[in-house]
Amino acid sequence: MTAEINPAQIIDGKAFSAKLVERVAEASASLEAKTGVKPGLAVVIVGEDPASQLYVRNKGETTQKAGMRSDTHRLPDTTTQNELLALIAQLNADTGIHGILVQLPLPAHIDANAVLDAISPDKDVDGFHVVNAGRLAVGQDGLVPCTPLGCLMLLKDQLGDLSGLNAVIVGRSNIVGKPMAQLLLGESCTVTVAHSRTKDLPGLCRTADILVAAVGRPEMIKGDWIKDGATVIDVGINRVPSKDPVKAAEGKTRVVGDVAFEEASKVAGRITPVPGGVGPMTIACLLVNTYTAACRTAGVQPDDLLAR
Ligand code: GUN
Repeated sequence: MTAEINPAQIIDGKAFSAKLVERVAEASASLEAKTGVKPGLAVVIVGEDPASQLYVRNKGETTQKAGMRSDTHRLPDTTTQNELLALIAQLNADTGIHGILVQLPLPAHIDANAVLDAISPDKDVDGFHVVNAGRLAVGQDGLVPCTPLGCLMLLKDQLGDLSGLNAVIVGRSNIVGKPMAQLLLGESCTVTVAHSRTKDLPGLCRTADILVAAVGRPEMIKGDWIKDGATVIDVGINRVPSKDPVKAAEGKTRVVGDVAFEEASKVAGRITPVPGGVGPMTIACLLVNTYTAACRTAGVQPDDLLAR
């Protein structure tokens, strides 16, 4: 007898994020009507990296679609650190701007940490400032990095109460792994953060009710690493050669996650696809953070954007 295969439910981050952007737009319009404060986001990009240019264009378009003010500052890659710091000081002082995002990576001659820490923590919509990392760690209101915030929203939407669940996060970056761990701890999960030195990673992953993959290695997490019925959140966005050898020879690529989706979706209970899972949530959460920052400036309690 062959084992029965129940394919995983696919978590549709694209649809969820579209709804979330609509709700942010409504909430922002209502904030502006009540207080005159229109949420404003400034995005700063230094240099010509094509992937970064695309991300920044998408951010600007989505911000405008949500009816918010969107300013994009495009600087040449010859910009000095002092010039960039001067722009950030100007944006910190601009009362029409509630969120500041400096697109990473920055050119090698600029110290990214010095730049990120120059952003006012209350405008730090990326949540990368040490003050916001600290606020998250001790459970104070701050601004939370967008990708882990988006993952948490999907998890709560899918599973409701997360308390007592075993969560394994693969990857310990400041941008995803560490803040994800703090968020899940805040939801009373039992959290383990795995990384490149972890022993028996497959065995550890098999203990997870919630598995978050954020390592940046294409299809590293295999189907037999996953516990039956687990919820799998794949943060990876990796470009690999097309499956079709002719197209691959022409340089055509496709995007895959950190999880071997086909195998994993036969074992998991729920899983995010790549693309269309976590990715679209990141921009939506950037708008959520900009709205939240604007509400705080206006002295108004933000609407609960996830209320049904
Ligand atoms: N580059 C790639 N992802 C991100 C992000 O989430 N924020 C910033 N600032 N830069 C990035």
